[in-house]
Amino acid sequence: MKLMAGNSNLPLARNIAAYLELPLTDASVRRFADEEIFVEIHENVRGQDMFVVQSTSFPANDNLMELLICIDALRRASARRITAVVPYFGYARQDRKAGSRTPISAKLVANLIAEAGADRVLAVDLHAGQIQGFFDIPTDNLYAAPTMAADIQARFDSQELMVVSPDVGGVVRARALAKRLDNAPLAIVDKRREKPGESEVMNIIGEVEGRRCVLVDDIIDSGGTLCNAAQALIDAGAKSVAAYITHGVLSGGAVARVDNSALTELVITDTILPTDATLDSDRIRMLTVAPLIGEAVRRIADESSVSSLFD
Ligand code: R5P
Repeated sequence: MKLMAGNSNLPLARNIAAYLELPLTDASVRRFADEEIFVEIHENVRGQDMFVVQSTSFPANDNLMELLICIDALRRASARRITAVVPYFGYARQDRKAGSRTPISAKLVANLIAEAGADRVLAVDLHAGQIQGFFDIPTDNLYAAPTMAADIQARFDSQELMVVSPDVGGVVRARALAKRLDNAPLAIVDKRREKPGESEVMNIIGEVEGRRCVLVDDIIDSGGTLCNAAQALIDAGAKSVAAYITHGVLSGGAVARVDNSALTELVITDTILPTDATLDSDRIRMLTVAPLIGEAVRRIADESSVSSLFD
């Protein structure tokens, strides 16, 4: 087994390598003057079980192209099997036709990865479980929930805790985390516009008064969904609101929005390389999923069960 990394999240790739007690494959992924990507693998990978770590996070298109070219280089170097380890799968939110004459880009990206030569995919908290089915190659979807649950259990009194989904679409994910937390109670923020042109109203389904709320979601991008939900919970009498979000996309002014929000803390994982602003924020903390991914890689290489990681 060998582990190779693109440039999107080298610290995570190094931590996965450290967990596996493996060096990263000696390769260079660089740019020509016109920004074309060039990959060169400096060691023999013939017959190897290769794992390429690359999140398709910002800049999504460059990082995706790097992943495709790494896979192509490995295939042409006669690797025996290639697993694309994509901790954050960008384009996942484009998983259906959002309107007439719009693409399903998540399916297109899945096709590109398989067509480049990947034999398997390993991802973390895909935006929707059914994206697994967009790949015509075996795909493992790991859950950050056990990592988050351990952190929540160490910090919150179970008598006061309430897990909250920031929107109706995230209920399945929030319920799964609540179940791990000894069946903690669950609330839902239901955002709806009563009439066209009127502003959105946040209704809270569940009794949050006096509770320490933990919002759970897969992605924080602009931060709008989360910060608005946090304020709605405080307005409804919650004692405090923290958030556990797998992928810290945190675009534009998201970090400032979080810093000025009602959230006491935002906990993200390291599926995406944090920006300096994220690292500087004293409201944002990061958990690592390197051991989770490292263990899944080991099990795929050993042909042992990956799902039992979550039992
Ligand atoms: C939406 O379906 C996702 O689960 C997130 O709630 C969404 O992507 C968050 O985006 P933003 O932070 O821009 O509100």
